[in-house]
Amino acid sequence: MNFIFLGAPGAGKGTQAALLSEKLGIPHISTGEMLREELKKGTPLGEKVRAFMAKGELVPDQVILEVMKERLEEKDCKGGFILDGFPRTLVQAENLDALLEEINKRIDRVVKIKVSNDTVIKRLSARLVCLQCGADYNLETRPPRQAGICDLCGGVLEQRIDDREDVILNRLQVYEKQTQPLESYYRKQGKLVEINGEKDKDLVLQEILNSLSKG
Ligand code: AP5
Repeated sequence: MNFIFLGAPGAGKGTQAALLSEKLGIPHISTGEMLREELKKGTPLGEKVRAFMAKGELVPDQVILEVMKERLEEKDCKGGFILDGFPRTLVQAENLDALLEEINKRIDRVVKIKVSNDTVIKRLSARLVCLQCGADYNLETRPPRQAGICDLCGGVLEQRIDDREDVILNRLQVYEKQTQPLESYYRKQGKLVEINGEKDKDLVLQEILNSLSKG
């Protein structure tokens, strides 16, 4: 099956997409992770998107569409995939539909994870990530054993450039304005399921799995 995970920043898309990916054995494709990797390597693409990401703005549709076209044509997507953070605008959604049609694929299910803005701010301002291996920590729910140090690889933990409170607030506004319209786009296609993302992550996963078994 081919999935899209939709939801505000911090809703838990990445967390749930990773869990489902492991469960179903299909790739988890996060555009945010792909772009952060380019930033880390200092590639021309990374330089092009740096300022947008630091401000919590979306990178231009054309840039992301080129990256995704290549990624979706890779071999590991043959048996299904989970898209996390893409599409994020109507232009991206329409182009994705056209691209998938060309390669004889379609989106089967769009999982919208719902959380309140208060939860988003609380989660994201407490998040730290490892600069070396990318592991995710949260000072509220999953603190590292030693402050500032990754349990897994000993790397240094840092706040994401877009997890400052002013940038989180902008990301929420960008979501409401540019990404929320996708909910009705996919509802009209009969593909949208809405999941309560406020619960513990294992309970959220269970709710997602239950929704899939309902067909
Ligand atoms: P991206 O990386 O996609 O950021 P985002 O959507 O803002 O997603 P987050 O990673 O912040 O949140 P999430 O919903 O994945 O939650 P997570 O599971 O991580 O994009 C970053 C930037 O890249 C964009 O702003 C834009 O500039 C650019 N970009 C990316 N895609 C683009 C596109 N298609 N078009 C244009 N630009 C694009 O969880 C968050 C925290 O909460 C973690 O600490 C986690 O441990 C914790 N948590 C998760 N679930 C729970 C739970 N159930 N209970 C308690 N804590 C939880």
